[in-house]
Amino acid sequence: MNSLNSTPSQSPLKVVASSPLPGSSLNALKKVSNLIVLNPSHTAKELLTACRDATALISLLSDPIDQNFLENCSSLKIVSNYAVGYNNIDVATAKRLGILVCHTPEVLTEATAELTWALIFSVSRKLIEADSFVRSNQFKGWLPDLFLGTELLGKTLGIVGSGRIGRRVGEIGSAFGMKVLYDKEHPFEEVLTQSDVLSLHVPLTEKTRHLLTEKEFKRMKPGAILINTARGPVVDERALVQALKESSLGGAGLDVYEKEPELQKELTNLQNTTLLPHLGSATWEARTQMSELACEAVRLSLLGQTPKNRIPEFKND
Ligand code: GLV
Ligand code: GLV
Repeated sequence: MNSLNSTPSQSPLKVVASSPLPGSSLNALKKVSNLIVLNPSHTAKELLTACRDATALISLLSDPIDQNFLENCSSLKIVSNYAVGYNNIDVATAKRLGILVCHTPEVLTEATAELTWALIFSVSRKLIEADSFVRSNQFKGWLPDLFLGTELLGKTLGIVGSGRIGRRVGEIGSAFGMKVLYDKEHPFEEVLTQSDVLSLHVPLTEKTRHLLTEKEFKRMKPGAILINTARGPVVDERALVQALKESSLGGAGLDVYEKEPELQKELTNLQNTTLLPHLGSATWEARTQMSELACEAVRLSLLGQTPKNRIPEFKND
């Protein structure tokens, strides 16, 4: 056999990106694959059609990568999720089918921690209400009791989910003179009942779904502030609306919703809420590094190598 025959020319493998991504990492991937970039408003069916003969997929956290999807994409070798959370992926099925799952941890820790703080300040100092007040020409002069908020110095910050993001939020809290209770070091009950600000940083799993329901809201400190930059279904959103309406909670800063992008309509009628459209990792720094990580995992896997940023369930493989 001559050398030409022993290296048959291969058509490049198909890679599907569920959406264009910030930065230039997809361009690099284009050079080594047959890259298809979908419109982010694609349907689940369009994603499935595109992935049937694909070797790799870069998915968004809004793409349900369920059993049916995975079983119908028999050439898939890797799903590289453009997020740290991967509750949108049926990991057990991926494992069974030998499809590697990667994610983008670490690079979005700071962005998410900073957004958490933006929410804490927004709710504790009523920034949204006050801003609307000024924009609607209601500011007629300084008043002793205009939009009084609460101070954070000396208050207790409860961290539910003491991973990288939760720890970083806690560190910043310490710098503001708050007493920080991490759920890794204190029982959940103590964190729940002692916190003036309770911030959620757990992944969504069957254990953390509806971690906070009516029962937990009743046990929180009167006037406490709830912050959720983790995943919507960790909170029973209906019960949250009720607790806010009854003023048993002082306010809520939410970046995520139980049935995202839908939310309990009543949340938008409440004054003591700040509502963001899932912006936790939305900084140029985080999103371009997420692109690099997600694309590099695919590039390595096309070369038959094992990416480092696989999800914990694949770490021992
Ligand atoms: C964002 O929510 C993420 O999980 O990266
Ligand atoms: C995510 O990066 C976490 O571990 O909190």
